Amino acid sequence: MCGIVGYVGPRQSQPILIAGLSRLEYRGYDSAGVAVIDGEGDLGMRKRSGKLAVLRDDLAAHPLADGTTGIGHTRWATHGSPTDENAHPHLADDDELAVIHNGIIENFAEIKAELVSEGYTFRSETDTEAAAVLLGREYRNSGNDLVAAFRAVAARLEGAFTLLAMHKSQPGLVVGARRNSPLVIGLGEGENFLASDVAAFVEHTRNALAIGQDQIVAITPTSVSVTDFDGNPVEVEPFEVLWDAGAADKGGWSSFMAKEVSEEPEAVANTLRGRSHDGVVTIPELEGLDDLFAGINRVIIVACGTASYAGMTAKYAFEQWTRIPVEVELAHEFRYRDPVIGPSTLVVSISQSGETMDTLMAVKFAREGGAKTVSICNTQGATIPRESDAIVYTHAGPEVAVASTKAFVAQITALYLLALHVSQVRGSQSKLAIADALRELEAIPAKISQILEREQAHIEQFAGWMADTRSVLFLGRHVGYPIALEGALKLKEISYIHAEGFAAGELKHGPIALIEPGQPVFVIVPSPRESAEMHKKVVSSIQEIRARGARVIVVAEEGDAAVLPYADEVLRIPLAGRLYEPLLAVVPLHIFAMGLATAKGLDVDQPRNLAKSVTVE
Ligand code: F6R
Repeated sequence: MCGIVGYVGPRQSQPILIAGLSRLEYRGYDSAGVAVIDGEGDLGMRKRSGKLAVLRDDLAAHPLADGTTGIGHTRWATHGSPTDENAHPHLADDDELAVIHNGIIENFAEIKAELVSEGYTFRSETDTEAAAVLLGREYRNSGNDLVAAFRAVAARLEGAFTLLAMHKSQPGLVVGARRNSPLVIGLGEGENFLASDVAAFVEHTRNALAIGQDQIVAITPTSVSVTDFDGNPVEVEPFEVLWDAGAADKGGWSSFMAKEVSEEPEAVANTLRGRSHDGVVTIPELEGLDDLFAGINRVIIVACGTASYAGMTAKYAFEQWTRIPVEVELAHEFRYRDPVIGPSTLVVSISQSGETMDTLMAVKFAREGGAKTVSICNTQGATIPRESDAIVYTHAGPEVAVASTKAFVAQITALYLLALHVSQVRGSQSKLAIADALRELEAIPAKISQILEREQAHIEQFAGWMADTRSVLFLGRHVGYPIALEGALKLKEISYIHAEGFAAGELKHGPIALIEPGQPVFVIVPSPRESAEMHKKVVSSIQEIRARGARVIVVAEEGDAAVLPYADEVLRIPLAGRLYEPLLAVVPLHIFAMGLATAKGLDVDQPRNLAKSVTVE
């Protein structure tokens, strides 16, 4: 939700900023802008509503003067519609200082009123401009000390913000502040970077520093200094970015989503890699942290959207393996209902980005309530893992398409590993059972590859035929239920078609009224070998909807012939144990959503109104 990047060094900053923004565009794509301090000490700025390409074309046609200090922004609008005026950067009243911002400044109206009463005028409807004008005032009040001005401004702001600013009289300096929104430093040779996410600078450096909460950073080409909001120096944590530079590129794929779906096998394999040995779970990040799990009597999983469906899926395995009751709750609901938590509660958060504000706030709330916290996260240096007692990273690699795919299967994998680890620590499963579970998991990547090889073309063709469909329903039972929810979310998110997921057993309690002749319904059918009873029940549900004219598309394991008489379409998945089926059944649904949105000519990577990392509540 808004991507920001800053550069200081010997090179021309514009191409670096634009390349960085193209890697951050997933965070928001309503408008984009850059500001550069040129060789004459002048501040050049260009900002345009629309996708980054609009700005890129504008700069190509009317270049800004060259300059080696710059900041850039890609916007997901919060305050003010996506217009050129509301795009970032915003300038202070004297046009000498430029600011970019990610987050929401909750008390901006009060600050703006104060500034207006002092005679300042405003050019946009944004909260950010209030910070820019305030920063300009404080810069002058502090005797032209940008860091001191930031301290004064940070002390006034409420809400979530990462702010970057530069002043035309101080080329070679970019200053940033962060509270509740991401900011990482990239350390180069004679150059330095600031960005919302390492993807923006990974092609230049893999050495990074994660800035903590309520800190101010000043970068020059040869120095980095970090202080708290009171000006006290703080130690920052270095880390090496594990992604290689090409990982965040589209490569030869038609879309990031297509690339990321193709990477689902790898996402599972990489999340498993190095985390077991001889049938024993060995998660390096959890070494020495057994106390976190020893005394717990309840697990609450908090997450949003697709990540919450990963949590719902893993609940079954978690409870089965650990015998600890597990609840799954939407992060934004959890925090506002006065939940009963304490030292014997383990709160597991799941977040691909590690920045989702709703989830971050739930984690903070859990910690304040005395609970233990573990974060499942895909992004190094992100805020949520830093706010948690322990982290288990998903190694899905950068996920750029707004709709989550490979991260989802990696999240389920990481949660399964965590559940096995907890059961190992507590002795709730035999060694044999843990070794069996690991074997099942290790077989998953090849099975996903098999689905991609055998079914993708067929599913895409069939999705193309359905491009005019107005509504699709998804049914699942047990672990198939969250997969039905995920199938529906993915479809509505990128194809703008109405879609709903239901627990198959719930059908007769209401949703069956939606069935009319021709209504497409996907049904995730459990394995008859693994769950004969449930299989029968789901086949009965299929018969009920078929009798009412539904067009039935089943996702069923190879060899399941019982579904054939009632299915208009059969999408096959390889055989797997019941708890592992969701890691397979979701793949055809991801392909289907992508195929249908593509057939409708939509941008599958950047669906309307959305942003990948939702850093506002
Ligand atoms: C859907 C999707 C979203 C995210 C949700 C949480 O395809 O991507 O529902 O899953 O916004 O995001 P993270 O995992 O970054 O916390």
